[in-house]
Amino acid sequence: MAAPNPPVLRDFDVILRKKLGDKLIVDSFETSNLVSPGENTGSTIYKVDVVVRRNGRDSEPEKLALVAKMLPPQVVREMVDIPHTFRKEASMFEEIIPEYVALERECGFPESELFDAAPDYYGTRFSLEEGEDKFDEDTAILMENLKAKNYYCCARKSGLDYAHCKLLVEALARFHSLAVALKLKKPALFTELKKLTKPVEFDHNLISSSDSALLSNLRKCPSLAPHIGKIEKVFSDFKTEMLFAKPDEPWGSIVHTDLWLNNVMFCADDSGKPIKVKLIDFQNYLYSNPMRDLVVSLFSSAQQNVRSEHMDEMIDLYYRNFVSNLKRLGCNVDSFNRASFDKELASAVKLEYKHCLMILKVLAQDHVEELRDVTAIVDNLCASDYSPATLKVMAETTLKLIERNWL
Ligand SMILES: Nc1ncnc2c1ncn2[C@@H]1O[C@H](COP(=O)(O)OP(=O)(O)O)[C@@H](O)[C@H]1O
Ligand SMILES: [Mg+2]
Repeated sequence: MAAPNPPVLRDFDVILRKKLGDKLIVDSFETSNLVSPGENTGSTIYKVDVVVRRNGRDSEPEKLALVAKMLPPQVVREMVDIPHTFRKEASMFEEIIPEYVALERECGFPESELFDAAPDYYGTRFSLEEGEDKFDEDTAILMENLKAKNYYCCARKSGLDYAHCKLLVEALARFHSLAVALKLKKPALFTELKKLTKPVEFDHNLISSSDSALLSNLRKCPSLAPHIGKIEKVFSDFKTEMLFAKPDEPWGSIVHTDLWLNNVMFCADDSGKPIKVKLIDFQNYLYSNPMRDLVVSLFSSAQQNVRSEHMDEMIDLYYRNFVSNLKRLGCNVDSFNRASFDKELASAVKLEYKHCLMILKVLAQDHVEELRDVTAIVDNLCASDYSPATLKVMAETTLKLIERNWL
């Protein structure tokens, strides 16, 4: 399927003025497709190169490299409450992250060390018409184009190596500890933020329709034969509502919930070592168990050798950083003990196991462009015969979880 034609971004100077000031003038802009079909599902993403003058006609022209996140194709809009996902993403940038940064400032963090593991945000609008409930084709979330700053997503086939995983795990611990610190230190404010995490309505059959295909393919893996009873029980015990249930305290945090490798971008130094990370795609965050993000990123997107050789190190790194960030934010950490963390981690695995298998299947796909939207992904998951490479990675990952008694 061909990529969609870039849309006309009507009156988008209005969005930019909110961040860059009322005197801003847009001299010119060009839109083009940022990613190939299959790289995005919940939206259509465009590259927007703009020339602006911040202080009226006589000021110097300045180039801005932006992206516009706009509505997905109709087929996706029929399955997911798209106005809600877009409002959620905008709220992450407008309401939640600014509170994280404000808290760090209050705690004396220097400007250079403030939380920056998300793209710079330029503004959102849901319609050219006035009115809080308006939402139409002119919806656009504008943010910095990370690709223009040499950020990249790791390759689907190779996955996240040790260095990328470490950076991501540290960023996750930071992201999660900020919500927990706000909850402890500013409960009234946090109650308001928590309202923004309301789950998005979607067709629950989307999740469960592939269960029997996943299970019948797992049954074909000889190495899983001795454990198949356990695996079937995890499937049969799983209820979609569990994904939205209240988390066990004190761990409850604002959790991304879809941190596979396409939703994380990295930037490397000249030697190729990753030095910065950005989380993207904040359409489905929840108030939930933060270890869900750790499980999804490590067990769906890390390289097999990280799973077999460095898993304890990654988990320890997350726990240590989570607790030390909380301390740095002035919180009492007595109740965040390791035994209770380990228990939460085990329950996060049970919640996210199927999700990890689904991502592993998507990542093993040879022709990414065939997975251009949610229906194509679901059809692909419902296939009766997965490839030998897919079965291998699903079996290896499942065995790692069984070894640890997590399934
Ligand atoms: N700010 C950004 N800068 C550069 N590339 C981006 C940016 N945001 C998203 N992308 C690219 O677009 C893809 C899809 O964006 P994402 O926000 O994940 O949308 P979707 O909800 O459709 O998955 C990402 O995997 C990434 O490759
Ligand atoms: Mg995405």
